[in-house]
Amino acid sequence: MDEKKKIIVTGGAGYIGSHTVVALIENGYEPIVIDDFRNSQKAVVANLEKITGQKLSVHAIDCCNEEAVRNLFASEKPMGIIHFAAYKAVGESVENPLMYYQNNLQSLVVLLKMVKEFKVETFVFSSSCTVYGEPKGAISVDEGFPIAKAFSPYGQTKIICEQIIEDFHKSHPEGKMICLRYFNPVGAHESALIGEYPIGKPNNLLPFITQTAIGKREILTIFGKDYDTPDGTCIRDYIHVCDLAEAHVRSIAFLEKQNRGLLDAVNVGTGKGTSVKEMVDTFEEATGVELKHQFGPRRQGDVPAIYANNEKMQRVLGFTPQKTIRDSITSAWNWEKYIHENESSK
Ligand SMILES: NC(=O)c1ccc[n+]([C@@H]2O[C@H](COP(=O)([O-])OP(=O)(O)OC[C@H]3O[C@@H](n4cnc5c(N)ncnc54)[C@H](O)[C@@H]3O)[C@@H](O)[C@H]2O)c1
Repeated sequence: MDEKKKIIVTGGAGYIGSHTVVALIENGYEPIVIDDFRNSQKAVVANLEKITGQKLSVHAIDCCNEEAVRNLFASEKPMGIIHFAAYKAVGESVENPLMYYQNNLQSLVVLLKMVKEFKVETFVFSSSCTVYGEPKGAISVDEGFPIAKAFSPYGQTKIICEQIIEDFHKSHPEGKMICLRYFNPVGAHESALIGEYPIGKPNNLLPFITQTAIGKREILTIFGKDYDTPDGTCIRDYIHVCDLAEAHVRSIAFLEKQNRGLLDAVNVGTGKGTSVKEMVDTFEEATGVELKHQFGPRRQGDVPAIYANNEKMQRVLGFTPQKTIRDSITSAWNWEKYIHENESSK
């Protein structure tokens, strides 16, 4: 029997990482998770095992701990790395920038050292559309769009990480590497056993919607209703987390097939915009639950509309997202109900 190809998944117990672990297993890879659970629940591992019917290889190691990471690479000899582990809360990064620079940059440097030392063939990095900033007047953004000045230390870590990868690649041109620039990941696995688990007040719209609907938050405030958009509210590109997970598997498969090194950046989005009001309306319509909401003033820095030009993702990775906004909303709601049931039975 062929040995399965081992992929190190840092942050594999987190929101996007856990869905990617499922997608890797479904596609015949063997994920090896590095996650010290600083921002995730240990229960995720048991739930992943339930979904996949497989025992998982999970290592509670800090990615910044070079020696521990090296020991793992020496014993596993992976063919690929998907590097999710990082801090991601914009507000927290403004309050504590050094914590963000330390974790997000150092973990990347350690992983890149492993690429070189262990000749790891493929490397996929979690980047973000935040690298484009809040471009004035731009609606559909492609990868050629200029990298903007970051609004927050978090955003700045993504810009610097991409720069580090670019410099590293110049010194290691045989590396096959992709930076995936995610738009707005939403939704949960259809089993409702894994999903987004925001710590504190959610930064993202959909968890705020589901938390309000379940009664954890009093009311959803929609910031601004007089934007130059069809219904006056902001438009964003929401991509289902299972589609996003699949894009990682496609990236690894694409890189594997290349017979020389390369470095590229690819947007991962649906290519379609959905307004905040449409999200609220679809939530109410899909779940039958009335959502308490109100309109507030515009938020500083918000652009009226931005979504991905995902033509490169379709062309290079041969991948088109499959899920609808309704799928995202329904799965996120089922996940919120699952969390609620588990928390109330404790
Ligand atoms: N969720 C989004 O909206 C979004 C958008 C764009 C980009 N991203 C990026 O995608 C990646 C994954 O995001 P997510 O939403 O799954 O976040 P998450 O917080 O749910 O997952 C990150 C995981 O990494 C782990 N981790 C963090 N630092 C670690 C370290 N030093 N050692 C070991 N484990 C560590 C955490 O415990 C957590 O399980 C991040 O790099 C994030 O910046 C996320």
